[in-house]
Amino acid sequence: MAKKMRIVPRFNKAQRIAHWTIVAAFFTLLITGLILYIPWTSTWTSWKIFGWSWERLLHRVAAVVFLLAPLYYLLAEPHGLWDLVYDSFFSWDEDDIRWLPHFIPYVLGRPGHLPPQGRINAGEKLHHATIIIFYFLIAGSGLVMWLGAPIIHQAAYHDLALAMVLTHDISMFVMAVLTFGHMYFAFVYGALPGMVDGYVTEIYAAMEHPKWLAKLREERKVVEIGAEEFAKQCSGWKKILGACWWDL
Ligand code: HEM
Ligand code: HEM
Repeated sequence: MAKKMRIVPRFNKAQRIAHWTIVAAFFTLLITGLILYIPWTSTWTSWKIFGWSWERLLHRVAAVVFLLAPLYYLLAEPHGLWDLVYDSFFSWDEDDIRWLPHFIPYVLGRPGHLPPQGRINAGEKLHHATIIIFYFLIAGSGLVMWLGAPIIHQAAYHDLALAMVLTHDISMFVMAVLTFGHMYFAFVYGALPGMVDGYVTEIYAAMEHPKWLAKLREERKVVEIGAEEFAKQCSGWKKILGACWWDL
């Protein structure tokens, strides 16, 4: 009999669209923001569109996308967005607390025997919760600097303007550090297939999220596919990016 592989659904199409849209907007904002922030890059910024320097205009266009992506997530997949918020802030249990001391070995790629984790592990919970908080801080301060410009540039509001710039800059720094950490874990622990094709292997789920897998098994959500179809998923660019399912 032909060999069968087992995979489980992780993120649906709307969740993946929302995630990659936010990623594209985030990196555009980070690059254009750094150009605004670092004085010596002003030599690159003489090019103007409708009287705006290109990086100022692009920062605002990307900001609109950055604001609309969660709104799209809310409309297209309200349960997914709720799960993200609930799991990040309100679903902490004893196993999550016991996971935390494993963080340093986990960073070094030698996690040892981890306490069993649910849909997202304790490290992801911390990452997602912090990203959500700083999302509101960076978007709020950015909107005040943008739409409130005629007011906050008056002398009487000097302190408010300063507070907004500081909040924006600190949030940028925190989000950039978190994002590079998040990318590192996505690559080292092979999480990319879930955000690229929407599925991870049952073996991966058993290692990283056994409590979540138990629920999926109960709900009969494990999918069997042929070995040929499994192998087909690993096209050239996915191999290069590490976004293939591996036959572990
Ligand atoms: C809704 C989202 C956002 C809005 C509305 C927004 C808006 C703004 C505005 C109006 C400015 C002032 C620049 C100018 O005078 O033209 C600014 C500066 C900046 N933004 Fe954003 N932004 C957003 C998100 C982000 C994100 C996600 C990052 C980086 C991760 C970022 C990084 C920066 C940086 C580094 C500066 C330069 C600040 C400085 O000069 O000290 N922004 N942003
Ligand atoms: C190239 C950069 C990035 C890569 C490769 C990446 C990769 C991933 C992967 C593989 C997952 C799924 C993890 C899992 O199975 O639980 C994920 C989830 C997530 N990522 Fe990223 N990510 C990137 C950038 C970002 C950025 C910039 C943000 C936010 C500013 C972000 C926020 C999130 C959030 C909130 C989730 C959970 C999604 C949900 O539950 O709906 N990511 N990311």
